[in-house]
Amino acid sequence: MRKVKKAIIPAAGLGTRFLPATKAMPKEMLPIVDKPTIQYIVEEAVASGIEDIIIVTGKGKRSIEDHFDHAFELENNLFSKGKFDLLDEVRRSSNVEIHYIRQKEAKGLGHAVWCARNFIGNEPFAVLLGDDIVQSEVPCIRQLVEQYEQVEKSVIGVQTVPSEQTHRYGVVAPLEKFGRLHEVSYFVEKPPAGQAPSNLAIMGRYVLTPEIFSYLELQEEGAGGEIQLTDAIQKLNESQGVYAYDFEGTRYDVGEKLGFIMTTLDFALQYEELRNPLLQGMEHILEREQLGKINR
Ligand code: UTP
Repeated sequence: MRKVKKAIIPAAGLGTRFLPATKAMPKEMLPIVDKPTIQYIVEEAVASGIEDIIIVTGKGKRSIEDHFDHAFELENNLFSKGKFDLLDEVRRSSNVEIHYIRQKEAKGLGHAVWCARNFIGNEPFAVLLGDDIVQSEVPCIRQLVEQYEQVEKSVIGVQTVPSEQTHRYGVVAPLEKFGRLHEVSYFVEKPPAGQAPSNLAIMGRYVLTPEIFSYLELQEEGAGGEIQLTDAIQKLNESQGVYAYDFEGTRYDVGEKLGFIMTTLDFALQYEELRNPLLQGMEHILEREQLGKINR
């Protein structure tokens, strides 16, 4: 069996939902408390046993490369001031070997994945999107790799979302279920409201066989005029079968503003020094809002 050792992290999107913050700064560098979202993703890949990572970047994404590089001046400064905890933190992000390729135009997620085809070659591989951070006992992409090792077919990470949200996601039409693993009749990207075949939505974690590239190669535009990964997955499903896996863990949507704020609050509560002052601060805000309601 071919092992999953490589991962693609597409990070070349325009991040329009965070404008103007993302005009000159990649959305992947926006921090949840003190760590850029893309570092959570890289750490999940490493914790899952991935050995080679390629990040697909685009215009204005230089700071991602800098973040995962050594920062000698900063490291010397922290060392000379005896700030060893911070030094460890700073070094942690540069301990991983990461490759980069540029997507010259943001033509869609499918196109971004296709840009990394030469790096992947003829092996199964993982794809992790920075819009979703997952906290789980077994790292999310590890869970999918374990399923791949059982079925030797592509496995897509899904979770249940409320019916009023299905139009924002790629959605699965499930067939037979084996525990958390579903056979899939078809995949559809962003179905119109009320027309989704189920509530099982694709969550930014994939293990794919390399045959996906023959469909991405066609560069066919789908929903929103973009080259959609979901469309290529559906073609792969027709030719060799693709599974959906309802992974365990809490998934945080950091690709849009409200989800980003909620994630920041939830993660901040996990910092010992922030927890109590934050809870107090939130209480004050709630009280103020309640009062405001009464006075309005
Ligand atoms: P999104 O559509 O959620 O990200 O793509 P976006 O385009 O950055 O953000 P908005 O919607 O404009 O606010 C999902 C993932 O696919 C990557 C993005 O970086 C994100 O991780 N992507 C998308 C690319 O790498 N290239 C693309 O052409 C499109």
